[in-house]
Amino acid sequence: MEPVSTTRTFETLVAEMVPAVEAEMRAILQPGSDTVGGAGELYGMMQYHMGWLDAGLQPVSAATGKRIRPVLCLLSCGAAGGDWQQAVPAAAAVELLHNFTLIHDDIQDGSPTRRGRDTVWQIWGVPQAINAGDAMFALAHRALYRLAERGVEPAIVVEAARRFDDTCLVLTEGQYHDMRFESRDEVQVDEYLSMIGGKTAALLALCSELGALIAGAGRETVSHYAAFARDLGLAFQVRDDILGIWGDEAAIGKSAATDVETRKKTLPVLYGLAQSQALRDLYGRKENGDNFVAEVVALLDEAGARDYAQQEAARYSSSALHHLEASGADGENGRALLELANRLLRRDS
Ligand code: IPE
Ligand code: IPE
Ligand code: MG
Ligand code: MG
Repeated sequence: MEPVSTTRTFETLVAEMVPAVEAEMRAILQPGSDTVGGAGELYGMMQYHMGWLDAGLQPVSAATGKRIRPVLCLLSCGAAGGDWQQAVPAAAAVELLHNFTLIHDDIQDGSPTRRGRDTVWQIWGVPQAINAGDAMFALAHRALYRLAERGVEPAIVVEAARRFDDTCLVLTEGQYHDMRFESRDEVQVDEYLSMIGGKTAALLALCSELGALIAGAGRETVSHYAAFARDLGLAFQVRDDILGIWGDEAAIGKSAATDVETRKKTLPVLYGLAQSQALRDLYGRKENGDNFVAEVVALLDEAGARDYAQQEAARYSSSALHHLEASGADGENGRALLELANRLLRRDS
């Protein structure tokens, strides 16, 4: 008789990991003994953003997001030979950090919807949404320190915290450039790459890096994991740029017009601007005009900007897979990382 296979698939691993991270995040996003009385609504806003409450702060089961960052962290820990359960606080920390950036990013980008619902600032106003984001930023740090309770060595916890803060800074620099580029006529592709390297890829890199670090991997192996996830992050953001123009709003849960309206210098737009004088003229106007978005999309289509961007995403994804191979990732977690990379390249949401 054939032995029964005990290899778990990508879906099975994710189905085990995500509830563990969810429970960890729920434990952290609660008012604590040090909470100033009456601040319950602040936690309510954060729990609303996470998809656990409705706008009236009643329990609900809404879209939570894909949770790819914690999955990346835990699979990397497993693939590097560690016990993923030990890395759950780090996985919760990176997902909370991501969600903090989204609350602030939606204010900064003027985005009215996220994950198919009103954004926090739309409901509670900008000043309180800033507070909700700030609180989540602090709680993300608090989440990371719980690694010590899972028996992770103090030296690794300190290193993880240092890399976490390095990443927060780089991410903010990336966001600075993203907004600065809106009002610039010309942006070079290498400037764009360093911008998305900051705003998006740095956090994905951190996820894999922390997973491998907690697994006790050596410096070189850790850096292969980080390089893998960084390139994956570049591919992920380029795919997000495509979805931000051509995506189905119901599937992506956010507007497919605001990137163009705010003149974000996304990769398809950079390509279109280099190819098309008509697009340069349109972007050169002070006011958007009535059919601005439709006209821009038509010119981008004509220039082949969508195909160009998808090819670039595929190139970064393939580079990511080379780093994954170099990391020595194997077993079911290694295969699941490969599966994750392939899925992200084709994602529609
Ligand atoms: C959105 O990230 C912001 C980007 C870096 C492109 P995700 O697409 O991972 O968002 P959720 O968490 O799944 O909603
Ligand atoms: C992604 O920002 C990066 C951060 C949120 C830090 P975007 O503005 O490109 O992502 P979406 O499209 O709002 O999710
Ligand atoms: Mg945005
Ligand atoms: Mg943004």
